[in-house]
Amino acid sequence: MVEGRAKIVLTRRWPHVVEERMAQLGELVRNDADRPLSSRELREALTTADVVCPTVTDDLSSGMFARGDVRVQLLANFGVGFNHIDLAAASACRIQVSNTPGVLTDATAELALTLMLMSARRAGEGERLVRAGAWEGWYPTHMLSTQVTGKTVGIVGMGRIGTAFARKAFHGLGMRILYCNRTGVDQSISLELEAERVAFKDLLERADFVSLHCPATAQTRHMMDERAFRLMQPHAHLINTARGDVLDEPALVNALVQGQIAGAGVDVYEREPELAAGLAQLEQVVVLPHMGSGTTETREAMGMCAVANVQAFLAGEALPNPVLP
Ligand code: DGY
Repeated sequence: MVEGRAKIVLTRRWPHVVEERMAQLGELVRNDADRPLSSRELREALTTADVVCPTVTDDLSSGMFARGDVRVQLLANFGVGFNHIDLAAASACRIQVSNTPGVLTDATAELALTLMLMSARRAGEGERLVRAGAWEGWYPTHMLSTQVTGKTVGIVGMGRIGTAFARKAFHGLGMRILYCNRTGVDQSISLELEAERVAFKDLLERADFVSLHCPATAQTRHMMDERAFRLMQPHAHLINTARGDVLDEPALVNALVQGQIAGAGVDVYEREPELAAGLAQLEQVVVLPHMGSGTTETREAMGMCAVANVQAFLAGEALPNPVLP
């Protein structure tokens, strides 16, 4: 329990309407410069505030909690992914952790669809051509690309976002859905989408498009590695809107350069904002700056979700979205 008015730190600026709402819950400290906090600044937040609201740009690894002097009791994460927080270390300090599931499902699935279409249809390449003033007009063999409608997509991780992406691909583009997942999906979903659960290896071998939607864990780290790319078809494309750690980026660059796969659409990277050497120079890659959840509607909903968790915590109630209750 927090005695008196709670001190709440937001590590980055949030949409205005959400900051205003959060300010009603306690003494709000904002990061007006809106750049990632240094380790020293993050430590200061953990040791002086009751609630810290981090994001994916905050490295909350075990060392941040090691000295046992933290004051923070709740980490209300702005985002669904929490691989930047060492949960064991937070738990050892009796810190509760919440996230924002559900509200960014459609926005992220939309971006995966965008990347799949852009990669297949060479949209990034075409736009660069026009902007460079190098387009010489229409002709029958110009910039031929790959049709997406009716093709097979393999979905790695059939949780909320993977399922929403599958729905858009199946109902919107008539795609055949393969998926692999630790557990099966609800029968109503597999019936609706005529989805076939397959082993990871089969999915790589059979899919025209492979889209990653699994969380970043020790088990999924670099699951798309050299070996995985060798199993994909030469005309296939890889899409990653999950987490950078799931993909071995130098292996992706190599697979593209060697022609083991045809293209890729990537939104998340292992060392954001840095990209693996050579990735951004490849014409057959669409690279976006981690914008899967980046619609106004969704970022406001994510903020409101964090607000609801802070509010419940301050009232001594169960968190609506507990990662560590
Ligand atoms: C999420 O919610 O995980 C987004 O990728 C932003 O961190």
